[in-house]
Amino acid sequence: MDRSEAKPRIERLRKEIEEHDHRYYVLNQPVISDFEYDLLLNELDALEKKFPEFIDQNSPTRRVGSDLIEEFRQSEHKYPMLSLSNSYNENELKDFHNKVVKAAGREAEYVCELKFDGASISLTYRNGILVRALTRGDGTKGDDVTQNVRTIRSIPLRINSGRIPDEFIMRGEILMPRAVFNKLNEERIKSEITPFANPRNAAAGTLKLLDPQTVASRKLDCIFYFLLSDDLPHDNHYDNLMEAARWGFRIPDSIRLCRTFNEVIQYIKFWESERRNLPFDIDGVVIKANSLYLQEELGFTAKSPRWAIAYKYKAEQVSTRLLSVSFQVGRTGTVTPVANLEPVFLAGSTVKRATLHNADQIALLDLHINDMVYVEKGGEIIPKIVGVDHSSRNENSKEIVFISSCPECGTPLLRNEGEANHFCPNYLHCPPQIKGRIIHFISRKAMDIDGLGEETVDLLYSRNLISNFADLYDLRKEQLIPLERLGEKSADNIIRSIKKSVETPYHRVLFALGIRHVGETVAKTIAHTFRSVDDLINADTEKLTGIREIGPKIASSIVSFFADEDNIQLINRLKAVGIRLSEEAETVTKSNILDGKTIVISGVFQKHSRDEYKYLIEKNGGKISSSISRSTSFILAGENMGPSKKEKAEEYGIALMNETDFLKLIGEE
Ligand code: IVH
Repeated sequence: MDRSEAKPRIERLRKEIEEHDHRYYVLNQPVISDFEYDLLLNELDALEKKFPEFIDQNSPTRRVGSDLIEEFRQSEHKYPMLSLSNSYNENELKDFHNKVVKAAGREAEYVCELKFDGASISLTYRNGILVRALTRGDGTKGDDVTQNVRTIRSIPLRINSGRIPDEFIMRGEILMPRAVFNKLNEERIKSEITPFANPRNAAAGTLKLLDPQTVASRKLDCIFYFLLSDDLPHDNHYDNLMEAARWGFRIPDSIRLCRTFNEVIQYIKFWESERRNLPFDIDGVVIKANSLYLQEELGFTAKSPRWAIAYKYKAEQVSTRLLSVSFQVGRTGTVTPVANLEPVFLAGSTVKRATLHNADQIALLDLHINDMVYVEKGGEIIPKIVGVDHSSRNENSKEIVFISSCPECGTPLLRNEGEANHFCPNYLHCPPQIKGRIIHFISRKAMDIDGLGEETVDLLYSRNLISNFADLYDLRKEQLIPLERLGEKSADNIIRSIKKSVETPYHRVLFALGIRHVGETVAKTIAHTFRSVDDLINADTEKLTGIREIGPKIASSIVSFFADEDNIQLINRLKAVGIRLSEEAETVTKSNILDGKTIVISGVFQKHSRDEYKYLIEKNGGKISSSISRSTSFILAGENMGPSKKEKAEEYGIALMNETDFLKLIGEE
């Protein structure tokens, strides 16, 4: 490649990598594998080395990416959090080994560890007490997620034993075990919330939640691999980690001291297959020079230490034949194409089906029936087709025709502008949608009606005993007893738990209604702001989007749900049987002190949570906005307001009010 070709290629690569960084670090929705990402980065790095005149301080090769978001206070890392350089084959690893041996002047000792695939965390302990937990952020400063981290049980909050340095930092990886991830995603899929792509994103996403209670419920785990201090107990990495294990940190048993390169290779091979038996994902192993003197000798590049390297495993892939495509209709009418595959064994289980997401995905893959396809299992529940072997296409191959009408009820399918999915608009009469809504309504996190499962709902529906969730409350025992599989006792149980469900709290009833995009957390948020379903029915898109966490997609889904007269009738029937459709009566009354005021909440607060402030603002007639504009009346400012918000406030000359003054203003203090 000559100079004139290199320049546009470099620019293109930078742009592409930046887009992937944004998807990975900010949106938690990567679209390419780490391997593909590294290929891009390596190409860019090589071009920049060959044509140094194009080097730019802002190039993605000069930084480690960022996961900073505004709501958390940020702090500097005492020691920068670097990343590891990657290797994908024995030769690349051998190069690393040769450099280490050269620096050591003899064979060196290595520590081999698993490369845990989660979110990295840096914990500071002073006098044995956990004082701060920071995410990696941009490597120099990270988000302070101490509150959330405190909820993770494998993290010691206080060290009680051993002689510890006055201050030290423990680094490790926050992980979501696969079992927890699968369960969480199943629930999200049921509630039609976008599932997390893999346990890493789920762990990173959870760590950044603003509600530590939800964090606690997600059962995160933490494993440690690095002790840092100005006063370390030992002169080598291995002994330092073993010491930390004695202080109470979870140091993995898989860690090994290797004395030869061959032992390192054995370690890599062993874990390549054994990793399937671990409760969480790893994406490779990490090889570190053990001696701290040698580490110092080897030093760092701008991005990573020269004394360590990651060896990354390729995601397991197999090829198999695509036999047919079926189409499934979900609770909200979304039609999902599913690939039926010639059964094939992959990463511990037989795969027969793979998700195809939507029509765009099929077109993107240029997929035909009878094609040989590559199937990959990441952390996802359902395997995915990652590529097609177009050279294997033969005369039996057939184009996939995306259905134009619903496979369940025959209604012509629709696709909204800007949305990837086709859906069946026959909301009222399409059987899987009707049954799906009822099943969602009775589920544990919604109305929690025991004794009624999917099969019984199917049965009741097929006998015309129910055709919506409100019908459940009209069921009588005599109607249930004659049904097959149900005796008097189960009939009793069902009726009893239906009756009991009228006590379900308001926010769970909101969740049970099955409004598209309204999951458990959103339902809680809405219940906090709109204290009765009638308030919610009267809310318009603007009022809804004034609540943080509620974007235009959720807002328009809520508005159109309540615009449907059938839904209003269902709600009236629920009201009539005594279901809680408002928050318990409150002693405090509303005021209109904040009438006409648009308020932005920013920073961290001491006296109330953000949600409580939101509630207080709206209770006093104010409106909440998530972004600062010229029409913002004032900013309710906590500690450590994000710098960009501060700048904007100054630019527009908008006043900041602290929480004490605010509480005085509304007469709560
Ligand atoms: S050591 C200076 N050890 O991989 C080197 N990192 O790409 C510090 N990781 O940000 C990292 N398992 O989140 C180290 N056994 C392990 C690891 C590990 C996973 C992650 C970590 C880091 C990233 C580097």
